[in-house]
Amino acid sequence: MNVSKILFTADLHLNIDARSIDGRRILELFAEAVKRDNPDAVVVAGDLSTPSKASDHIALIRKAVGDRPLAVALGNHDFWTGNISGKDFHLLENTISAFWETPCRENGITLLDLENADWGETTIVGGYGHFDLGLAWPNLQLDGKPVTWEDYLAGKGWNDFRFIPGCAEFLEVNARAQADGIAERLDQAIDAKKRIMMALHTCPWPQLNGHPQSGSYRDLFTGYSGNSLVGKEIEKRSAYVEFLMCGHTHYRVKEQRLHGIPSLNVGADYGIFRAVIYDLETREIRWI
Ligand SMILES: [Fe+2]
Ligand SMILES: [Fe+2]
Repeated sequence: MNVSKILFTADLHLNIDARSIDGRRILELFAEAVKRDNPDAVVVAGDLSTPSKASDHIALIRKAVGDRPLAVALGNHDFWTGNISGKDFHLLENTISAFWETPCRENGITLLDLENADWGETTIVGGYGHFDLGLAWPNLQLDGKPVTWEDYLAGKGWNDFRFIPGCAEFLEVNARAQADGIAERLDQAIDAKKRIMMALHTCPWPQLNGHPQSGSYRDLFTGYSGNSLVGKEIEKRSAYVEFLMCGHTHYRVKEQRLHGIPSLNVGADYGIFRAVIYDLETREIRWI
């Protein structure tokens, strides 16, 4: 398989009930971009939909991409099992196996949370990432008082704490598991001597979250923008990584070299399609 142009995007949020934005419009924009720019392969880095719509929406993503090689990572919204009963969804791996693994396999999609996408000499390594509060603003104060660990775990206004079961209680367990999984898959790609592109949902480093400091409770959200444990694992292996992208914060961060790796946040938002094309021949990044 000869892949030379890869389209990377994120945050499609195809759940059409999300904030009353019509997910079908974003799907149209996505399909148009794929048709127009004609990449050899496509990567979608998380916040695809929600677990209850996984089968339908994975099929729609496949349809938009045609028969090109396709890899997806999951995002925090893709773990919003809420009140769905069943397995212990406080462990993120159980949501992956219950909702996402089968539809991805049936549609010929590589689920980066479980395995790397090996496309010729290139491998896509990625996954969700989650958050460990390590990217929080240092010494943040709100209403004249220092923000505490407990304040962060109360998740004021941050819906993951309502819709991911045990989000606060299992935050550290899930953050560590995400970092370990990504490190393991990265090592596999390094051992295979592949050209490595990384696609993560959340940010590995604070420079990629694009957050302005607002002085309001929204500054807490920066703590949920990424996982510093993932960042540390990538830093140990940064010499082997050619390109890195993430999404999640819905703020665009243009490419910059972080730990030697050209890195960006694609910055797609509800109803707003954004993507980049990475050219493996020239190593150029083009925004579309
Ligand atoms: Fe998102
Ligand atoms: Fe997200």
